[in-house]
Amino acid sequence: MTYRILSEETIMQNPHSLPDYLLQSDAVSERFARLKARDVILDVRHLGKRFRSPQGEVVALDDISFRTHRREFVCVIGPSGCGKSTLIRILAGLESQTSGDVLLDGKPVQGPGADRGMVFQGYTLFPWLAVKKNVMFGLKRNGSSSGEAEREALQWLDLVGLTRFADVYPHQLSGGMKQRVAIARALANRPRILLMDEPFGALDAQTRAKMQAHLLDIWRNIDVTVLFITHDLDEAILLADRILVLKANPGKVQELIEVPVPRPRGYSQFNTPEFIATKARLEALIHPEPTDEAPDEDAVRPHMIRMTDVADNVE
Ligand SMILES: Nc1ncnc2c1ncn2[C@@H]1O[C@H](COP(=O)(O)OP(=O)(O)OP(=O)(O)O)[C@@H](O)[C@H]1O
Ligand SMILES: [Mg+2]
Repeated sequence: MTYRILSEETIMQNPHSLPDYLLQSDAVSERFARLKARDVILDVRHLGKRFRSPQGEVVALDDISFRTHRREFVCVIGPSGCGKSTLIRILAGLESQTSGDVLLDGKPVQGPGADRGMVFQGYTLFPWLAVKKNVMFGLKRNGSSSGEAEREALQWLDLVGLTRFADVYPHQLSGGMKQRVAIARALANRPRILLMDEPFGALDAQTRAKMQAHLLDIWRNIDVTVLFITHDLDEAILLADRILVLKANPGKVQELIEVPVPRPRGYSQFNTPEFIATKARLEALIHPEPTDEAPDEDAVRPHMIRMTDVADNVE
């Protein structure tokens, strides 16, 4: 795929039409050049995963290959069932692949490890431990003394803005606060990569927006690569350097999009031409236009119960 530079001239010539999502300003294209010159942290090579079930075999992932560079932020989107969670679980070492390789810093991933931090949609804090102790847990397991672990934990809680809540229990926190603790806990182990599976999926829109801004802030301040799964196209464009778009049945890579929106990112960019152009491309990939061939309704829904006999139903 070729990326072109978006010149002033191009914009002037097409003032009313959207730019091509492949067009990049000088600053964005230079940023990508710098990013791609960095070390490869994660190298996924020809990854395949098949599940056997009573209904037959499911090809969850088929020949997935991509790389992420140090301090890159990659979002993964795709329709439900396209294998996003399966992919992230394999990267985390919680599931094994059927074929292909996953290399982290050049070494094959075999099982879970402290070099990968996970944050899931569901709240995964230990309910019997206070916030600070939740963050200290992994540190102590990795050999820190209680004093060291506590000092570190407080620094991470400060980074996510929860110092005041160090001694409360998870049930006393809001959903957004719980996810901030989960992020602090994952980052406290200094992972090379943070693996996030729809971490803000259960939050209301306002909290979600705050969490997105917060995560960008944290990511700017520390040396961590992020792989972030989401269903939300705006969220993907706001956060990502590149967006890996998967398709379902079988789960395959459709496209790896370089987001042409400059950094630092913020909500005021949602209406910029490059944001809208990227979103239009994602929409087209995820929700392709229906084909002209009209489906035979009875064939598609043979057992559907008719809820109305009204002949002139407006539908
Ligand atoms: N343990 C399992 N056994 C059998 N099939 C599985 C298993 N886990 C996942 N699958 C199948 O693999 C495919 C991919 O599932 P996965 O959960 O990775 O999708 P996803 O993209 O995360 O979906 P969603 O967006 O709904 O979270 C689906 O068809 C699913 O039914
Ligand atoms: Mg999933």
